[in-house]
Amino acid sequence: MNISCESPIQPICHPLLEAHNLQLFIKRDDLIHPEISGNKWRKLKFNLQIMQQQGKSELLTFGGAFSNHIHASAIAGKLFGFKTHGIIRGPLLDEANPTLNDAKRFGMTLHPVNRLTYRQRHDPHYLDELQKQFPNAYILPEGGTNLAAIKGCMELAQSLPPSDYIICPTGSGGTLAGLIEGTSNQTTLLGVAVLKQADYLIEEIKQLSKKAKEQHNWQLLCDYHDGGYGKFSDELWRFCQTFTHQYNIPLEPIYSGKMMYAIWQLIEQGYFASGSVITAIHTGGLQGLNGLKYRGLI
Ligand SMILES: Cc1ncc(COP(=O)(O)O)c(C=O)c1O
Repeated sequence: MNISCESPIQPICHPLLEAHNLQLFIKRDDLIHPEISGNKWRKLKFNLQIMQQQGKSELLTFGGAFSNHIHASAIAGKLFGFKTHGIIRGPLLDEANPTLNDAKRFGMTLHPVNRLTYRQRHDPHYLDELQKQFPNAYILPEGGTNLAAIKGCMELAQSLPPSDYIICPTGSGGTLAGLIEGTSNQTTLLGVAVLKQADYLIEEIKQLSKKAKEQHNWQLLCDYHDGGYGKFSDELWRFCQTFTHQYNIPLEPIYSGKMMYAIWQLIEQGYFASGSVITAIHTGGLQGLNGLKYRGLI
């Protein structure tokens, strides 16, 4: 069960970068695979190895109705020939939504649960019950974040050329934690929180990464959520469209676009020291654009 993790690094030229004497590169992890792209494959890679080692033949995981992780897990099941189960935050499922429609088409069994049940997704008793119900399943947390996922993101960090800053969008903090683990302390790691009031993630990132606990070369930027998870302004969406057109790099406004827009604002504020090299991670998630179109949000 493998997909090559190699992806290009694309330099960006822009007068704003020149004016601040900065070099910006984008690690195009969105190009890892047409469907399991970005941090989704990085996080799944070592989990699927463990699943095989444990002799499990099914994958069970959790997500919302438009989840990139649900989508990627379903495709992984189809590609590598294992059964997948998605515990989906419901209670009602619109199976015509492009994410769930694809997940079903790729063979995932969808299990809608109400919000109260979904809230138990980290509760050991609930997880024990699920394990009894699905004895052949390897259970993967929401968003795919666990220690094996950190290992995948650590591998990403180790594949990058030296930079003064590495920056990524942050949802659960798994990707940032892995990048911290895999990067020397000469580099500053920045996570752009895509949700409101994300400060609580700082502790969670420290739980996921020993280096995050010990080192101070990282920061979670909590002021660039643009309204909260799944929300975005017209301005941000226009920025994504212009960027896509100018550099032929597709951006969606929930993760990668929010990060790029934050980078632009940080540059304008003079956040980065002159002469810095910045590497931004494009974490994929482009399937989300179909869901936004479906809901008439773009
Ligand atoms: C496309 C994309 N980018 C970034 C993230 C955030 O990653 P993490 O949850 O590891 O912080 C996610 C969510 O998992 C995602 O789907």
